Amino acid sequence: MRPEELKQLLADMSLEEKIGQLVQLPSYFQNGGHITGPASDMGITQEDLQLAGSYLSIIGAEKIKALQDEYMAHHPHHIPLVFMADIINGYRTVFPVPLAQGCTFRPDMVEAGAATAAKEAAAAGIHVTFSPMADLVRDARWGRVMESTGEDPYLNGLMAAAMVKGYQGERLTDKGRMASCLKHFAGYGAPEAGRDYNNVELSPRTLKEDYLPAYQAAIDAGTALVMTSFNTLDRIPSTANRWLMRDVLRKDMGFDGVLISDWAAVGELVPHGVAEDFADAARLAIEAGVDMDMVSPSYIKNLKTLVEKGKVPEFLIDESCLRVLELKNKLGLFENPYKDLSADDEAALLLCEEHKKAAQACAELSFVLLKNEGMLPLEKNAAKKTAFIGPFVDNKFLCGSWAIFCDDQDTTPLKAALMDAALPGTTVFAKGCPVLGPEDIVHGFQKPVEKEEMDLEQALQEAIEAAKAADQVVLALGEHREFSGEAASRATLTLPACQQRLLDEVAKVNENITVILFCGRPMDVRAIQNKAKALLVAWFPGTEGGPALVRTLYGDSTPSGKLSMSFPYCAAQLPIHYNHLSTGRPFNGNFAEARFGSKYQDIPNQPLYPFGFGLTYTEFSLSSVRLDRDTLQPGETLTASVTLQNTGSRPGTETVQLYIRDVKGSVARPVRELKGFRQVTLQPGKTATVSFTITEEMLRFYDIHMDYVSEPGLFEVFIGTDSRTENKASFTLKK
Ligand code: NOJ
Repeated sequence: MRPEELKQLLADMSLEEKIGQLVQLPSYFQNGGHITGPASDMGITQEDLQLAGSYLSIIGAEKIKALQDEYMAHHPHHIPLVFMADIINGYRTVFPVPLAQGCTFRPDMVEAGAATAAKEAAAAGIHVTFSPMADLVRDARWGRVMESTGEDPYLNGLMAAAMVKGYQGERLTDKGRMASCLKHFAGYGAPEAGRDYNNVELSPRTLKEDYLPAYQAAIDAGTALVMTSFNTLDRIPSTANRWLMRDVLRKDMGFDGVLISDWAAVGELVPHGVAEDFADAARLAIEAGVDMDMVSPSYIKNLKTLVEKGKVPEFLIDESCLRVLELKNKLGLFENPYKDLSADDEAALLLCEEHKKAAQACAELSFVLLKNEGMLPLEKNAAKKTAFIGPFVDNKFLCGSWAIFCDDQDTTPLKAALMDAALPGTTVFAKGCPVLGPEDIVHGFQKPVEKEEMDLEQALQEAIEAAKAADQVVLALGEHREFSGEAASRATLTLPACQQRLLDEVAKVNENITVILFCGRPMDVRAIQNKAKALLVAWFPGTEGGPALVRTLYGDSTPSGKLSMSFPYCAAQLPIHYNHLSTGRPFNGNFAEARFGSKYQDIPNQPLYPFGFGLTYTEFSLSSVRLDRDTLQPGETLTASVTLQNTGSRPGTETVQLYIRDVKGSVARPVRELKGFRQVTLQPGKTATVSFTITEEMLRFYDIHMDYVSEPGLFEVFIGTDSRTENKASFTLKK
């Protein structure tokens, strides 16, 4: 439709129709045509159903086609529905969780993964995905860190933009593309004490400097929608925050698409204590510029009366309705209300070999090797006996808690992949213990979590016997998938006790232990690495996790992942991030001298494994940093380079990282910030020069006046293989 036609359509619509476009209902309203379940509290009537313009979480080509036909036939202007869903790390072919995708440091792979997810979901009738989540995260207690790409603004920005491009492509009308919805605006990743939905306190400077850039990158990449966050910011719930939505998001950041609330967030303005009732909540949200109300009765039940009573001007409804119509138009739904849905394409695309290969490649790149004392890769040696032990050896729950449309039966676990690979040597398997012991409690997000019944002593004994008889042991351990995800915050980041006991007991009879850790967040791995010679973080690797791990364990693929989020020393250290500010009393590590340094009495300040850390199967050395000049002026460029050498005996890929420190500013500056990285693959003995271009623009920040500028003075340039590097040189910015 042409823009004038859209405007004409809007002018022809009744107030009820326009309000209908602002309403998104959950799938259970189509459960056999009856209104069932908790949503019946919303008081939705058959008339409401005829006008509500969008559904969430309905999937499947045939179902969506039937619903679209039925709806359009009864709609006064035959306006099509728009179908949205959470396609987070894949639809049926599942990629690693986003935090793991961040560890690839490969925006191109992440973009390809999003494009794969879009192809599958579009064939199943989905028009919009609620992804990417560009929330910056610093606290591993928060279960949703799994859905973020990590703690760094720059890396998150690259990944968020890559996802938007992967989903949307050039044009939303193109086949196999869907619209992306950036979330959660703003600051949702910083809930106090790591507890989901909790209040967020961020200074205006920290918000702008650290938290907004990744959202901005996704907006610049053209995301069609943005979702409001559940949290308060400056004590105002985002969904009612007029300044945040109208001034920051739309004016400053240039977003002109559809702004949708998070699930029930408009109604939650009441328990937040800023709205008296749902009518008041609807008024606040529409005034703040929230176009669509996801699953709350606020808009559908109240906006009409509010307009009629003169409490909400009709132009606010028109403005939001036009944006929703524009979205439908961008998706081409007026011309083709089915877009790409096709039962044939579903059959051909879902879990096709090409998609599975892409998911496997992404999983291999996301594994992070934290420790390796000569264990990995495992030898393909006919004389070797390897025991694969642990509750994740034959476990199909490898997709994380957000892969809500995957069928766990489609996941290839480690054991099946090992059997397929038919490796030389003897392989024995033992479970050893369940994922959760009797004392572990998990409150599930989707369904009640069933615990596996098992004779714990017998299972442990079998594992010990298997370990005794083996040359080496691979222990597959980790978190229950419902330990991370929405509303899944945890104060304890260690393994369930039964799994730790399994590791401790196995370690008594066999010292050659490799632990593969499955998790959706950084964990406290002290008690694991003390007993294991190698530790490989597999995250929740997706449907192809098993084959990806077998290739990695046996050296057909070499780990190259780098932590996108620091692994803390322990949970009490959280929040933690590498790019923190320096205090007035930085601690030099010497407890005797620095009694009054900024430190803990009992634990280090440093995380156990920092952002950017990850080993490979070979060794790399880096030369010192070379700068081609020692001063820089605006308009000029400075080149920083190092020579990277593969000094080990195997090929490998290293991620060379550039960090910059502004030594003195008008406000305190981070001790270093990631400004670039390059991945280089080298054969043994080979060298490569790795160069970065530094410009004045890269040195800008929000100064004492909140102006985004650079300030003259000394800068340190660090180039290394993780965020702790001390390999540095310095230059002066002159103006
Ligand atoms: C709530 C979550 O916060 C959001 O990320 C998700 O997209 C919606 N539910 C819809 O499922």
